[in-house]
Amino acid sequence: MTTGNILTTDSLSVTFGGVRALAAVSINVKEGEILSIIGPNGAGKTTFFNAITGTCPPTSGQVFLAGQDITAKSPDEVARLRMARSFQNLKPFPEMTLLENVLIGREIHMTTGILATILRLPAFFADEAEQKCRARDLLAFVGLEHRRDHLARNLTYGERKMLEIARALALEPTLLLLDEPVAGMNPTETGFVMELVQNIRRQGITVVIIEHDMKMVMGISDRIYVLDHGELIAEGAPHEVRANPAVIEAYLGGGTHAPTH
Ligand SMILES: Nc1ncnc2c1ncn2[C@@H]1O[C@H](COP(=O)(O)OP(=O)(O)O)[C@@H](O)[C@H]1O
Ligand SMILES: [Mg+2]
Repeated sequence: MTTGNILTTDSLSVTFGGVRALAAVSINVKEGEILSIIGPNGAGKTTFFNAITGTCPPTSGQVFLAGQDITAKSPDEVARLRMARSFQNLKPFPEMTLLENVLIGREIHMTTGILATILRLPAFFADEAEQKCRARDLLAFVGLEHRRDHLARNLTYGERKMLEIARALALEPTLLLLDEPVAGMNPTETGFVMELVQNIRRQGITVVIIEHDMKMVMGISDRIYVLDHGELIAEGAPHEVRANPAVIEAYLGGGTHAPTH
């Protein structure tokens, strides 16, 4: 593996009952970059995230995180290696507050053991206070501080998406994967997420984004990979990808979401 790559996949394939959802996809994500993965619906984008995070182990191929082979690791193990992910359609725990939802994401950072927790020893309270403090900071970072004690079920759609990002950040990832973070958001909310992603990168976190919103993709990506029918069909800077005939064909063939701006 080349130095400077935080994530590498080597010929990664996923097959579902004879259908190749992902076909020998080899990519590199450089440390510190904002990388986007685009492609028509059904192209295999979410499957790619599933395959690298242990949610859906690949049929063949390998995944390396900072040089370490993580191909056979479980989602829990992958999270411990600081790869965090937001889901396309995950709902928060509705009857818990925002703060409690974020605290769940901090679980691996709890230093007190199970005994101290059960016996509620002083160490437990000190640790809990620190975790709450960090969770509050994260809610402030995504613009939800004022709602931290509200139940998650009362959030608007856009707020729920922001909570999902805060929950993923609670892991203190080195690599953050976002699956369609601005889908269904209005332009103001999208603009906020674009700023947010750039702020996340400024903190030294590498970001990989699956997204259909071309204003966002073209506006913040250092580099873009394009998937179509499970295959990698293009890679490059935004202006290169936008002008690539294979990309235009894939989108026009699919009928929607042509990357026109
Ligand atoms: N768990 C699954 N079982 C069977 N087929 C699946 C499963 N997940 C995804 N697929 C199929 O794999 C292909 C890629 O899906 P997906 O990765 O969700 O695409 P995208 O995120 O690019 O829209 C689709 O044809 C989809 O129907
Ligand atoms: Mg998807």
